[in-house]
Amino acid sequence: MKNKKFTIAPDGVDPNKLPKRKLYTGAEIPAIGLGTFGSDRFSAEDIANAVKGAISVGYRHIDCASVYGNEDLIGDALQEVMAGGVKREELWISSKLWNDMHGQGDVLLSVAKTLKDLKLDYLDMYFVHWPFPNYHAPGVSVDSRDPHAVPYIHENFMKTWRQMERLVEMGLVRHIGTSNMTVPKLKLLLRDAKIKPACNQMELHPHFQQPELFKFVVDNGIVPIGFSPIGSPTRPDRDVTPEDTVDIQDPVIVKIAERLNVHPAVVCVKWAVQRGQVPIPFSIYRNEYLSNIQSTVTAPLTDEEMEEIAGIDKNCRLIKGQVFLWEGADDWEDLWDLDGEVKTWD
Ligand SMILES: NC(=O)c1ccc[n+]([C@@H]2O[C@H](COP(=O)([O-])OP(=O)(O)OC[C@H]3O[C@@H](n4cnc5c(N)ncnc54)[C@H](OP(=O)(O)O)[C@@H]3O)[C@@H](O)[C@H]2O)c1
Repeated sequence: MKNKKFTIAPDGVDPNKLPKRKLYTGAEIPAIGLGTFGSDRFSAEDIANAVKGAISVGYRHIDCASVYGNEDLIGDALQEVMAGGVKREELWISSKLWNDMHGQGDVLLSVAKTLKDLKLDYLDMYFVHWPFPNYHAPGVSVDSRDPHAVPYIHENFMKTWRQMERLVEMGLVRHIGTSNMTVPKLKLLLRDAKIKPACNQMELHPHFQQPELFKFVVDNGIVPIGFSPIGSPTRPDRDVTPEDTVDIQDPVIVKIAERLNVHPAVVCVKWAVQRGQVPIPFSIYRNEYLSNIQSTVTAPLTDEEMEEIAGIDKNCRLIKGQVFLWEGADDWEDLWDLDGEVKTWD
């Protein structure tokens, strides 16, 4: 099967017609990507198959991370599509540095492992997954505290960022980016970075629109990448709390979905692209990832619908990051600088 010609399925979207966003370097990123976090529910094999399936319906942007534990199989999938004629430069492949690899010398080791697994010689984007070196064992309870966990320490983050910058200088990654940041942390980074982040990956869905952070990154020439764009209905049970709201059950989203005759999830994706962020919806099901990409090239939502969706923001963060808290921290809100400045604990 290795050399089977890889063609776009008749019901897929021509990648040349996909909307794109320009980064400050002039590079263009496809305005939708495929997420690859299996949430403990989907196997690495299923996800690698979805990567192949998604590329066959027109996706060219794949959002990976070492901590998702599936980069080796995704690497095999990428090899297969490239053997079938998809050129490396047509693809946008992102990955992320996990929290346990922030130390001196570790960033290079980490990207080397990711490149080996993905079987690539460069990444288009490498994110710092979280701005903390706080590690937790897979699947631990959200209430547990790692005794080595620490709050954000800018000096330490800059040591990690310098290593990220070095990867660009070495040609191993084309762009570097941040994830799970706040405005105060980004202000410090923009002040001190030699190479500024090209993208900021952040939780974005109709019930969590983060207007202030969104505006800040756009105003600073950084492209927002929206994770959990559908409100992550299949996220791990440990990330679900009773207060969480459900985007795909919101009456405004459901009403628009009925008008368009699509699943409410598709409305979330369509809104995201139209608002200007780059959503990275996850699904292993062909009908779902196909309808998500098709929504990027169909007639736009009306101005009234865009306004209605702007009005349903509930400031409902789903990926709260509790497991990254340090001993002495009160609760997950301590991670997110809600007072407008980076909290210090000394
Ligand atoms: N930087 C970070 O810290 C971070 C954090 C979280 C996620 N991410 C990235 O963002 C990606 C996406 O986020 P996510 O996986 O949390 O959640 P998501 O994309 O908001 O939700 C995924 C779920 O939505 C459902 N879905 C997708 N398309 C659908 C459609 N057309 N119709 C009906 N249902 C649909 C699927 O559930 P069913 O199986 O029920 O159909 C799927 O499992 C991740 O895979 C990962 O790459 C990054």
